Amino acid sequence: MRSRSLLAAVALAMAVALAGLLPGEAQDKSAAVKPLRELPLAEEAAPPDITRQSVPAGGFERAYRQQPPLIPHKVEGYQVSVDNNACMSCHDWPGNTKVGAPKISETHYVDRQGVRLDKVAGTRYFCQQCHVPQADAKPLVSNVFQNATQAK
Ligand code: HEC
Ligand code: HEC
Repeated sequence: MRSRSLLAAVALAMAVALAGLLPGEAQDKSAAVKPLRELPLAEEAAPPDITRQSVPAGGFERAYRQQPPLIPHKVEGYQVSVDNNACMSCHDWPGNTKVGAPKISETHYVDRQGVRLDKVAGTRYFCQQCHVPQADAKPLVSNVFQNATQAK
């Protein structure tokens, strides 16, 4: 009787140990996915090519309806700090009419409570939270994204 319960205890211990091994096995499988890093940690890879920023005349197509438009010009040197927003010198009305830049969207002059303002809302102050320049770079991971209109 005693040896039987001992046997059961050993079997249980082995089952628990095996179950513990299973996640390790799953990890081995995921290691087969090609990582972005191509060399072992200890080796230093050659730096990637510097991709040039794309600056198409007239801007980029939007990938989906709600997309913040991509920035079709260089942005180095346009600083956005607490006291100064260099983007606004060209994109705020009425300054924008002088340089021929599109006025920031009317939605950018509405605060969180829906109150219309005469200056850009705090929630839209840091332009590059949403608007980014685009580089002509090959996607690192391919995808089959379709926007809602294309997916209909
Ligand atoms: C010297 C003036 C100037 C400054 C400063 C400037 N822009 Fe522009 N921006 C333009 C002009 C002009 C266009 C119209 C497209 C073109 O001619 O490049 C434009 C286009 C854009 C567009 C595309 C709008 C659309 O509907 O496609 C975005 C987004 C944008 N700018 C964001 C920014 C952000 C963010 C900054 C600050 C980091 C900034 N801009 C600073 C002049 C400026
Ligand atoms: C929270 C995200 C967000 C921030 C921050 C933001 N934008 Fe936008 N912006 C958008 C979206 C989304 C659109 C397109 C939809 C719309 O018109 O609201 C847009 C539209 C625009 C347009 C195109 C307007 C038009 O009528 O074609 C310009 C220009 C622009 N933003 C400039 C700016 C500038 C300059 C700043 C910084 C002062 C800024 N945005 C901050 C999300 C943002």
